[in-house]
Amino acid sequence: MKIKSAEFKISNSEVSKCPDTRLPEYAFIGRSNVGKSSLINMLTGMKGLAKTSATPGKTMLINHFLINNEWYIVDLPGYGYARRSKESREQLERMIAGYVLQREQMTNLFVLIDSRLKPQAIDLEFIEWLGEHGVPFSLVFTKMDKLGKNAGPLAVEAYKQELLKTWEELPPLFMTSSTDGRGRDDILSYIDSINQELKG
Ligand code: GTP
Ligand code: MG
Repeated sequence: MKIKSAEFKISNSEVSKCPDTRLPEYAFIGRSNVGKSSLINMLTGMKGLAKTSATPGKTMLINHFLINNEWYIVDLPGYGYARRSKESREQLERMIAGYVLQREQMTNLFVLIDSRLKPQAIDLEFIEWLGEHGVPFSLVFTKMDKLGKNAGPLAVEAYKQELLKTWEELPPLFMTSSTDGRGRDDILSYIDSINQELKG
């Protein structure tokens, strides 16, 4: 799929204020600093579209970007940033849960996983929670450029084994790097195939 246009539409903290359209939405979630906003910029080919930062906790709102006038990319705040007050963390968690559970337009949630880390409890618990609520999701391994040729696939394989302890079937998996662009075509083709299916 070619990205012909990508435009920022709206940021907000409430699901009820998200765009009033029926267009399908693909949202990006994961721990703070995992690379959600960078991935969105990589996918759209627009460097400054989503705000990125070297310090965690940059994205604080639900951000809608209209793509090709046909579908939305949604950038969500990260979860689990420890250096935030409990209150502020809980508020973000409510915002995320509200969007993920209530937004009917949300067609697929991409859950980002830092490929350099061993499977983290916070991610596994989040994935478990998605399963309990029947939320459609895929996993995206980020920062693959930081791992060597062999270490990358090995890390992904280890993650699969961890998931297979609780899941019978694995979700779609993508290996990406926002710096070298790998995984871009796979994710865009995946989104395109769902969009075509929805059009019937
Ligand atoms: P929050 O909005 O704070 O939750 O973070 P985020 O998940 O949106 O992360 P963001 O895209 O802002 O990136 C965090 C940091 O990781 C930045 O310093 C990025 O440059 C870096 N980064 C993101 N993706 C990659 C990648 O694929 N490779 C490398 N090497 N660095 C990356
Ligand atoms: Mg962000």
